Amino acid sequence: MTAQVQEPLNIGVLISGSGSNLQSLIDHIEEGTLSAKISLVVSSRPDAYGIERAKKAGIPVLVMNREAYADTSAANQRIADALKVAGAEYVVMAGYMRMVTAEILNAFPDRVVNLHPALLPSFKGAHAIEDAYNFGVKVTGVTVHFANADYDKGPIIAQQPVEVREGEPIEALEERIHSAEHELYPHVIQLLAEGRVSVCPETRKVRISN
Ligand code: GRF
Repeated sequence: MTAQVQEPLNIGVLISGSGSNLQSLIDHIEEGTLSAKISLVVSSRPDAYGIERAKKAGIPVLVMNREAYADTSAANQRIADALKVAGAEYVVMAGYMRMVTAEILNAFPDRVVNLHPALLPSFKGAHAIEDAYNFGVKVTGVTVHFANADYDKGPIIAQQPVEVREGEPIEALEERIHSAEHELYPHVIQLLAEGRVSVCPETRKVRISN
């Protein structure tokens, strides 16, 4: 019997900044440990370093600017349309700092994923690492979840704990959280590529099949 060859998962990646998580996805694809194709990168900022990373990897980039976001709904519609034209099956948010609204969420139901640098539902929001550190938690971590209209509240797909070491500066914790992200995100996208992730319609909990 011959093994079934699976087509790589077509994904679009949304970024706003450094794009180190985008880079990690690119690297895992190149190493052959992630069966995906990034067909489009959308950047909410013209000066995001992630744009260079995408270009270097030969990935088309849609660059949005402040004016484009003056009308949030029009901006989201434009992004949704571009992702559809690119053939994206999933939308992968990687440090994207703009609202993802109904235009994208309805075009990709339970197919928009986000990465959050804390163990949700704790420390939601844009300063999660700092907030967890300042609170004094002993364990924080990384969460990958489906995005929905409730910011940082969508069904959780996977979490990776990261211990806070005694007396360590926040920069050291940040570094270890980013390392955890760079491992966990490609792993989760690979699970999506294998079709192993589903959301239970009744409980809205995520199930990972073997
Ligand atoms: C990551 O820490 C992610 O969890 C958060 O924004 C950061 C993005 O980093 N949402 P990068 O642009 O991928 O380097």
